[in-house]
Amino acid sequence: MAQLDYDSLRARTAPDPTPLPGAKKQLAAYPFGMSYPDPGNLPIMEAHAAMGEALAEVGGTPTVYPDTQGYPPLREYVARRLAQNRSMSVDPDDVLLTEGSGQAIHFVTEALVDPGDVVIVDHFVYGGTLWSLRRFSADIRGVVSDADGMLPDALESAIDRAAAEGRRPKMIYLIPTFQNPQAWTMPVERRREIVDVAARKGVPILEDDGIAEFRFEGSHVPAVASLDDAGVVIHTGTFSKIIVPGMRIGYLIAPRRLLETVMPIKGSRGVTQFGALAVHRFAATRLDDHLARINRVLRSRRDAMLAALGESFGDTASWSAPEGGLYTWLTMHENVDLVDAAPAAAQKGVTYDMGTNFAAGDDEGRSNARLCFCFNTEADIREGIARLAEAAIG
Ligand SMILES: Cc1ncc(COP(=O)(O)O)c(C=O)c1O
Repeated sequence: MAQLDYDSLRARTAPDPTPLPGAKKQLAAYPFGMSYPDPGNLPIMEAHAAMGEALAEVGGTPTVYPDTQGYPPLREYVARRLAQNRSMSVDPDDVLLTEGSGQAIHFVTEALVDPGDVVIVDHFVYGGTLWSLRRFSADIRGVVSDADGMLPDALESAIDRAAAEGRRPKMIYLIPTFQNPQAWTMPVERRREIVDVAARKGVPILEDDGIAEFRFEGSHVPAVASLDDAGVVIHTGTFSKIIVPGMRIGYLIAPRRLLETVMPIKGSRGVTQFGALAVHRFAATRLDDHLARINRVLRSRRDAMLAALGESFGDTASWSAPEGGLYTWLTMHENVDLVDAAPAAAQKGVTYDMGTNFAAGDDEGRSNARLCFCFNTEADIREGIARLAEAAIG
């Protein structure tokens, strides 16, 4: 029987179809692309216990039906935690629970970006956000950074260049703490300068702050949103990394009018209420202990990664030394091409995210890679980095 042709029915605004990813491929022996703690360091059984406790308490009450904006006790918890740990002042009514921060980024993009609108990002930036920006046909402009993050002058020039073309950029997307993939953290003074440029030019900042609590050294830097008194900063975070990725719970905090635009985009369904109940109970009773434990693991793995890079790459490359987070950013000298080196590395059991996956500026990123230290043991990091060096520099 001839099958119905869905291409002839596709909405004008729908994206082009992409092949389904299919079953997950087997992980390599040294998977430096994995940006989550390994399963042994995820609090799976504790999350399971937390969900059991929460359901025992609220089961059989209307609480098991989702709230459109998200389970109120979890929104209140998010507001309290952001006040304590990120110096923000948040009204729980301005919090929307989302399916991870990825969904919050997607919704904000849909709310603000028409095809061809200018959006400013770091010249190397998280690929998931690039994906959402491309979905809405944004004109993506990458702005250069130094070791302290996006350069305020370069940001201002990019906004002025767009204005000279008669276009007002719709958004500046920032990951100011343990930036993905470059791993720098923007100091508070730079944050103030960036907020000042955004407020003067009337361009909102979307701050993506999902791994700030993986800090194992140095002092806390307040969220960009805490430095804003002009309503220019939109904030998103997630429990994916700090609890369990499969929970799929994050949040969006935005000025009321923007949230009112996002709500109809989201539709009338809330996020998973089982997930929200579990996250709320886990966060209220176990999250701080879990973070203390995982941050010790991450520090030791970061140290192993930096030592291994020093031993295996010497002065053929440079890399960032973050005070927290999940990865470091490798930059090869002498034009070593890490895209070309990838098949040889894979032969040796090593995989990584090439710089090209994050490129949003003039530099294609062929001599860069993001190397996650969160997933592999210290011994595997040493062995995997040695193998990577063999593949890249012989
Ligand atoms: C910088 C950044 N933002 C957002 C996300 C999306 O996270 P979630 O699982 O909460 O959707 C990720 C996930 O890797 C990320 O690295």
